[in-house]
Amino acid sequence: MNKKEVTARSAGDVSLGRQLSVHRIGFGAMRLTGEGIWGPPKDRNATLAVLRRAVELEVNFIDTADSYGPNVSEQLIAEALHPYPKGLVIATKGGWQRPGPNQWTHDATPAHLREAVEGSLKRLRLDRIDVYQLHTPDPVVPFEASIETLAELREEGKIRLIGLSNVTREHIERARKIVPIVSVQNRYSFADREWDYVVDYCESNGIAFIPWFPLGAGKVAGEVLNQVAKTHAATPKQVALAWLLRRSPIMLPIPGTSSVEHLGENVAAASVRLTDEEYERLAGVPELAATR
Ligand SMILES: NC(=O)c1ccc[n+]([C@@H]2O[C@H](COP(=O)([O-])OP(=O)(O)OC[C@H]3O[C@@H](n4cnc5c(N)ncnc54)[C@H](OP(=O)(O)O)[C@@H]3O)[C@@H](O)[C@H]2O)c1
Repeated sequence: MNKKEVTARSAGDVSLGRQLSVHRIGFGAMRLTGEGIWGPPKDRNATLAVLRRAVELEVNFIDTADSYGPNVSEQLIAEALHPYPKGLVIATKGGWQRPGPNQWTHDATPAHLREAVEGSLKRLRLDRIDVYQLHTPDPVVPFEASIETLAELREEGKIRLIGLSNVTREHIERARKIVPIVSVQNRYSFADREWDYVVDYCESNGIAFIPWFPLGAGKVAGEVLNQVAKTHAATPKQVALAWLLRRSPIMLPIPGTSSVEHLGENVAAASVRLTDEEYERLAGVPELAATR
């Protein structure tokens, strides 16, 4: 590693259930698969190189799911990084099924979740999964039944910590009556703030918030981003990530990429510090967009 290089450590740390601590720029491993989040990547060696480079850049939180590929993302992580370096936290998920490319269907039944955890343990070559997330609540399975199953798997030592994804505050509160919840993963960026109230709830309760699609932006957002980026000699993507890091100390962005160059750029966002004025301007984008 070049000494001058910005690494994920510069983003500071966030606690996961007061048991683990990770740098606040992680890596989303969904885009490592083939087209449509289906099958193997076009260039396996390049994909393995992205994962290894992430660890070199001190990324110590990798987000994946059994449904990415399916199975492919988890297999690639193990192939690239096992035996895992000390402190690397792999967070996987279950509760989605993949009938085909770009197709996703629910299955958070207790039987499926049990099977899914066994599959992830095998593919990731682990005895215990550090963070296991319910990918999304299943509308035809009582939410409590899914969470109780994860709580049982935790008791059995197969999962260390439990997270949720694509949930409301009500879901989090219901889950917390059963078992501690250490992270929530919902779609979020400066321009996409439906889940602001969930971020606030997580901050008040010491739960990490993992925004997915952290680089997503529309036309108005693009204009403001470009202006702010210019003054920092940064890229618009870096500014979008810097805004997230500033939004809350519990924010843990997981930008996804299949490119070593983009990975370096995303991690380097850890050194971009926005002024109050820039932060507020970006925060005002959803209202600005609504008036155009
Ligand atoms: N819980 C859920 O339901 C859920 C849903 C979606 C995603 N996720 C998780 O969230 C992670 C991130 O989400 P995401 O992959 O949808 O969105 P993202 O990180 O916002 O964007 C990824 C896209 O941006 C491109 N990109 C990344 N860095 C870039 C850069 N520096 N410059 C230009 N383009 C760049 C990537 O293409 P290149 O490969 O060409 O860089 C890719 O097409 C996923 O990997 C996954 O782990 C979770």
